[in-house]
Amino acid sequence: MKTVIISNRLPVKIIEENDEYTFIPSEGGLATGLGDVYKSGNSIWIGWPGIEVPEERQEEVTQKLAELNLYPVFLTQNEINLYYEGFSNEVLWPVFHYVVTYAHFEQTYWDCYKSVNEKFAKSAMQVLQRRDKIWIQDYQLLLLPGILRAKLPNATIGFFQHIPFPSYEIFRLIPWREEILNGLTGADLIGFHTYDDVRHFISTATRLLPVNSSSNVLNSNERQIVVEAFPMGIDYDKFSDLTQTEEVKKEIDYFRTGKEDMKVILSIDRLDYSKGILERLKALELLLQLHPEYIGKIELFMIVVPSRDTVPQYSDLRDQIDQFVGNLNARYRSINWIPVNYFYRSFPIEVLSSLYATADICLVTPMRDGMNLVSKEYVASRNNNDGVLILSEMAGASKELTDAVIVNPNNLGDIMEAIVTALKMPLEEQEQRMTAMRATVEKFNVKHWVNNFILRLNEVKDSQKSLLTK
Ligand code: G6P
Repeated sequence: MKTVIISNRLPVKIIEENDEYTFIPSEGGLATGLGDVYKSGNSIWIGWPGIEVPEERQEEVTQKLAELNLYPVFLTQNEINLYYEGFSNEVLWPVFHYVVTYAHFEQTYWDCYKSVNEKFAKSAMQVLQRRDKIWIQDYQLLLLPGILRAKLPNATIGFFQHIPFPSYEIFRLIPWREEILNGLTGADLIGFHTYDDVRHFISTATRLLPVNSSSNVLNSNERQIVVEAFPMGIDYDKFSDLTQTEEVKKEIDYFRTGKEDMKVILSIDRLDYSKGILERLKALELLLQLHPEYIGKIELFMIVVPSRDTVPQYSDLRDQIDQFVGNLNARYRSINWIPVNYFYRSFPIEVLSSLYATADICLVTPMRDGMNLVSKEYVASRNNNDGVLILSEMAGASKELTDAVIVNPNNLGDIMEAIVTALKMPLEEQEQRMTAMRATVEKFNVKHWVNNFILRLNEVKDSQKSLLTK
């Protein structure tokens, strides 16, 4: 009996260079969060390897991935355009992050989303054995639980959504809302990061489907579906230990040299309009305007990891960030200082670790975020218990990391004040807050998250069976 994880993206993606394929780790919370876990257990992971692979090379890729316990679902360029970029990232992503005006409700997107979810089901049927547990991940595969349930009525199916679930008033705007809910409710256990997401989902399902709820259980004619919050954690030990390695220590020294008197503010995100990157830059601009005493004394290190840049809203955002940073730096810089060190690229984990360990402040201000693992990675990297986390109240992580300086990301003055508070925060208070947050991140780590979900899935299934035999 194994656990079969199914997500849109595999935890590795293919890079093609001179006709050679190499596999590198995928970006994003899901892949990094679950990446190490699947290797340690009896499991297989099904998903898309990140590029279009021509038919004649699919066998080669399948074999290479099999060595890593991975099983590919190949998508054509048309499917990538309509299912991934289209329905997933131009309908579900904006709506679930409350940016409804960005949504394009195209029928062709929806049709392709349905057929690609069927395609994932077909791949799953090739590797599934009786009594395997199925764990489906995220918004790209909302229909998959229902499709698999129809094929395997007794299967154990868990679903976890890594992004927020919006309130009913937002969700109801989607033209295909009932079909989506019917798909999701094929699962036995549905997990979200926060209790608010659970509440939104239950109220949406009971209004749109013929189901009723008692507490966090949905009752349909045939089945019961349990809906619960499982706040995702990170590999705490990995981040904490990394800062002690020779390689990272060297990076830290290199990074700190010449900056002894400089306060470093760090921001790391995937390129995304939900992350509040422009607003963060505007708050920094406000700070330099209203508190000129910090000119030459603070530096923002801003890493934006390229993502979805074939979707127009993402490439537009990238251009706006380029423009804003260029403008701000040109106005405020001096010969040997610039306010924003901006990088549009990804970095190896050792470099990220050294930045986490060095930065005096980590600025995490998404407009809406399911969880936000960067905030937890910063906390785990602070082995000296110093440093200040500024965290948006719209990130799921703010429900756990209550000792962060919490801000409303729409309120630029609020973010600016939070930066000033962080810059002035006495070491003792930093230590008090950081120690409390580290304890939370250490305890509720990613292993805890996986074990907890799987344990609950087993319990839910067992209780269903005992109901049937009564
Ligand atoms: C978020 C989503 C993941 C997604 C990741 C990266 O974390 O919850 O499902 O994989 O972003 O986005 P991408 O579109 O590159 O897979």
